Amino acid sequence: MKFSDRVVQWQRSHGRHTLPWQNTRDPYRVWLSEIMLQQTQVATVLGYYERFLARFPDVRALAAAGIDEVFALWSGLGYYSRARNLHRCAQAVVAEHGGEFPRSSEGLAQLPGIGRSTAAAIAAFCFGERVAILDGNVKRVLTRVLAFDGDLAVPANERRLWGEATRLLPQQGIEAYTQGLMDLGATLCLARSPHCLLCPVRADCLAMREGQPQRYPVKSRKLKRGRREHWWLWLQQRDELWLTQRPDTGVWAGLWSLPEFESSEAFDAHTRGWPGEAEALPGFTHVLTHLDWTLHPVRWRLPDRVPAARMQTITGSLPAGRWFGLDEALAAGLPAPLRKLIGRG
Ligand code: ADE
Repeated sequence: MKFSDRVVQWQRSHGRHTLPWQNTRDPYRVWLSEIMLQQTQVATVLGYYERFLARFPDVRALAAAGIDEVFALWSGLGYYSRARNLHRCAQAVVAEHGGEFPRSSEGLAQLPGIGRSTAAAIAAFCFGERVAILDGNVKRVLTRVLAFDGDLAVPANERRLWGEATRLLPQQGIEAYTQGLMDLGATLCLARSPHCLLCPVRADCLAMREGQPQRYPVKSRKLKRGRREHWWLWLQQRDELWLTQRPDTGVWAGLWSLPEFESSEAFDAHTRGWPGEAEALPGFTHVLTHLDWTLHPVRWRLPDRVPAARMQTITGSLPAGRWFGLDEALAAGLPAPLRKLIGRG
């Protein structure tokens, strides 16, 4: 029997059939579930999904809502850009498509927050379009079945896997096949301990034949987040603080910010002998896309009067910048964490 036939048959007899976003062809409901399920487990999504639909029963209701209410119902699901895009998408469907979702994966993929795999899932479930999905679970299933050892961090390999996913599609039964791949990935073909004995496609699975299904998928560039740590000098005299303009590239390009030091030793060495008083403030971690950046602010209050020559040495030792009054600083372009820091200072 062909791989796709086995998946379809298994889905019909052993797959999941009673999830609240199944047994409907309403793209609004399917879309909402797919977005919620992108980074979140089914068990968590169930309650949110129900409350969300009770408040916003259709795409027009969602589009007409304020973003604050959308965030409130999303609160706790995480990855809030999903909520923002959800709202934008609903508004686009109403404004540009007369309140009807496009009926093809290609059209769906033009909308905010709908990537290729999500578009394909919606089109397969709602319109029976014969098109491949490739989310994290499905990548795991297919790389194992095919013993696909190309590094998925390399775009060309990911493209090749999309090609394989398309090649494997059944002629009939795309809905059950699509759900079947998802169900296999969620219930049997687990990342660490796959239940190969129960698997309906074990006869096709090359990774199982090799004896090491856990080797797949191969992804070299570990999604390990970078870390960075800096000490931040909040130099203050009376109600003025010293700000320096960040370079035109990199994090917070062009914004006004505080002088940074790579270690507390570097900070201490730089400020040794300065007049005034230092106060270490609680550190915090600013989460960037590929980087956790921990900042340790130190507030250094200079005495009201410092001899001009001395002051010249101090500010001359810092990256180029100037003094800002507190209100002036708050009105300038500041990184959000800095605004928060000095705003309550
Ligand atoms: N994860 C993503 N889509 C899903 C679906 N339709 N059912 C269950 N889990 C999913």
